[in-house]
Amino acid sequence: MRIISSVSEMQSYADSLRKEGMTIGFVPTMGALHEGHLSLLKKSIETSDKTILSIFVNPAQFSPSEDFGKYPKDFERDEKMAEELGVDIIFYPAKEAIYPNGYSTYTIVEGLSDRLEGKSRPSHFKGVTTVVNKLFNIVKPHIAFFGQKDAQQALIIKRMITDLNMDIDVVICPTIREDDGLALSSRNSFLSPEARKEAAFIHQALKEAESLHLNGDQNSEILIPKITDTLNSAPIARIDYVAIVDSETLLPIESTKQGALVAVAVFFDTTRLIDNILLTAVK
Ligand code: PAJ
Repeated sequence: MRIISSVSEMQSYADSLRKEGMTIGFVPTMGALHEGHLSLLKKSIETSDKTILSIFVNPAQFSPSEDFGKYPKDFERDEKMAEELGVDIIFYPAKEAIYPNGYSTYTIVEGLSDRLEGKSRPSHFKGVTTVVNKLFNIVKPHIAFFGQKDAQQALIIKRMITDLNMDIDVVICPTIREDDGLALSSRNSFLSPEARKEAAFIHQALKEAESLHLNGDQNSEILIPKITDTLNSAPIARIDYVAIVDSETLLPIESTKQGALVAVAVFFDTTRLIDNILLTAVK
């Protein structure tokens, strides 16, 4: 496995792989790897000739009040996990390599970026789309892998790829969960033991909404309070939002009958967790 920190070296290496006719699979991450990230990497290794993992904690997607400074970092552990899995290259740039002095260009996907997460974290997706656009230009992938855990992020990246005529396929991989249903996240390590136990209510609330939907309760005005009640059975939980939206436009919908994305964001102490479930259309 090769570790590359220089942008120009990564670009030349990607060019040489492309010249040899290799397909490049790409998994962008912020490190602190867990089984969720590994599932994306496995998928890439299965389907591409070469798999590139990027590890970059992107300052542009954190607001000043957020957890950029304390975001978990353990490059040696990540390196070992990637090597064992069969990753070919880790792209591991310094902040200055991505945002050198004088940096002033940003990529914004309008509309989609303002909804759900965008309402609570106003410049978050501007940071995500900017860095992912840059990483695409550096890593030059044929296929990029994203997790359904961050459903809105995946949708926004797909929109950017279409709108900017990028020749990149996107594969969205299912959310990997702990035994009690909690979606794996690097931020779970911040949870106190009590909060960790209570965080299982998130998936429970989403699964309850799914069974209600499948059993004929498809009115958002009924489902949202039910989800809210279940989340509130966790005493530490502080709900940021519970939303039932169209899975393409992310705009609120009144009924889940034609299918829907149910998305939640919940604080446990200062740790903010997000999760979602896709409801399929029912007859
Ligand atoms: P990060 O949070 O490290 O996540 C990297 C990728 O792993 C994302 O596509 C995310 O959706 C996926 N992922 C995270 N938890 C998952 C889980 N439990 N199951 C399946 N996939 C999961 O998302 C980012 O980094 C950044 O915003 C990034 C795209 C790298 C841009 O900086």
